[in-house]
Amino acid sequence: MIRIGFAYNQKPEQSALTGNKATAHQKTVDDGELSRLQNEFSATDEFAEWDSRETIDAVAKALAALGEVIRLEADEDFPERLRQARPDIVFNIAEGKNGVNREAHVPAICEFYGIPYSGSDPLTLSLCLDKARTKEALSAHGIPTARFVVAREMSDLPRVSKTLELPLFAKPIHEGSSKGITERNFCRTTDELEAQVKFLLEHYAQPVIVEEYLPGAEFTCAVLGNGKTAKVLPIVGMNFAALPEGALPIYGFEAKWVWDRPDRPLEMFECPAGIDLALTRAIERVTLDAYRVLGCRDWSRIDVRLDAGGAPNVVEVNPLPGILPDPADNSCFPKAARVAGISYDELIQSCLRLAATRQGVPIGRRLKKVQTVSKAASPPRAARSRDHDGPAAEESVSNRLTA
Ligand SMILES: Nc1ncnc2c1ncn2[C@@H]1O[C@H](COP(=O)(O)OP(=O)(O)OP(=O)(O)O)[C@@H](O)[C@H]1O
Ligand SMILES: [Mg+2]
Repeated sequence: MIRIGFAYNQKPEQSALTGNKATAHQKTVDDGELSRLQNEFSATDEFAEWDSRETIDAVAKALAALGEVIRLEADEDFPERLRQARPDIVFNIAEGKNGVNREAHVPAICEFYGIPYSGSDPLTLSLCLDKARTKEALSAHGIPTARFVVAREMSDLPRVSKTLELPLFAKPIHEGSSKGITERNFCRTTDELEAQVKFLLEHYAQPVIVEEYLPGAEFTCAVLGNGKTAKVLPIVGMNFAALPEGALPIYGFEAKWVWDRPDRPLEMFECPAGIDLALTRAIERVTLDAYRVLGCRDWSRIDVRLDAGGAPNVVEVNPLPGILPDPADNSCFPKAARVAGISYDELIQSCLRLAATRQGVPIGRRLKKVQTVSKAASPPRAARSRDHDGPAAEESVSNRLTA
């Protein structure tokens, strides 16, 4: 039986984010309240990207079917505990704590000790946490992405006006989970841009990336696999009609943390997205191109939006995708997997198998047959496209992907 180290960062039970969301549920959120929530969130919730106990337990349970799981919380003692435990492979979902290379720390430490690990390497993880560097790499390879300028200080703004066309969209360069991304980031005029860039520079203490606004539909694409066998799972479409009347069609802070209420959940995701085959193929193409160019491994989630001409553009790449286990939480990667007939446990196990295969770590055959879950969520087999079709139930998902 192989020994699987499981590296994660666990969110404190009472994070500021949880508190904020609870407050927001109690009343309609006006401008002042939104500002307060956003400020509190950015000032205190350094743990927004970390995983909950529920997610960590669900992943550990899935891994336990393949080997002995050794939990290795990615805290200060992680290097020493990893060195002592010397697992055969590490399953990594740790988002990290300090600095702009935080997501790269666990993989770098594994490399230091020569221990195989799952997912992307330190270079890819750091690259994708810098939205501008990511877009430079994409552009260099001809992969469509909105034109942009980085504003490190207010004196950079004239360059923005000279280079880019309004309307524009501003974002902190190194964040995720829509930290610092509200409707105000959509700027119709240079005055709006000036005010928002000033706010973001002051509150997030990092450069601001200013992009041309992509006015079209939005999708997020889960990729599983490596090399030629990497596959896009059924595409998730953003249903902006679910947002409150008059809301802008963006999936930002308000949609993720304010308007999505437990008593009135936003029906934000449509999977598979209701788009024709030509657009499906075009989105899959840019997604897989981005995955390869950025050196993603095993899995990643890639956000895509259409430009004014209807062409898919890459918005950003998440090599550590969100993987909430409860279907009610509408987490995009597990949702896309379910629609493909891949259960949560199978998804986690596939990622580990892909990593093991890549690095020559022998991993036993599945202990039990693959069960196809969430039949209700899965389209009938005959209705699925070839790329998304599942295997015979007794095949493992990784066999399917690497065959
Ligand atoms: N150039 C753009 N044009 C139009 N909308 C944009 C643009 N960039 C970002 N957005 C909107 O803002 C949202 C959040 O942006 P982005 O995905 O870069 O942030 P994030 O916080 O890293 O997201 P995640 O929660 O996926 O980690 C996007 O889903 C999209 O709706
Ligand atoms: Mg995103």
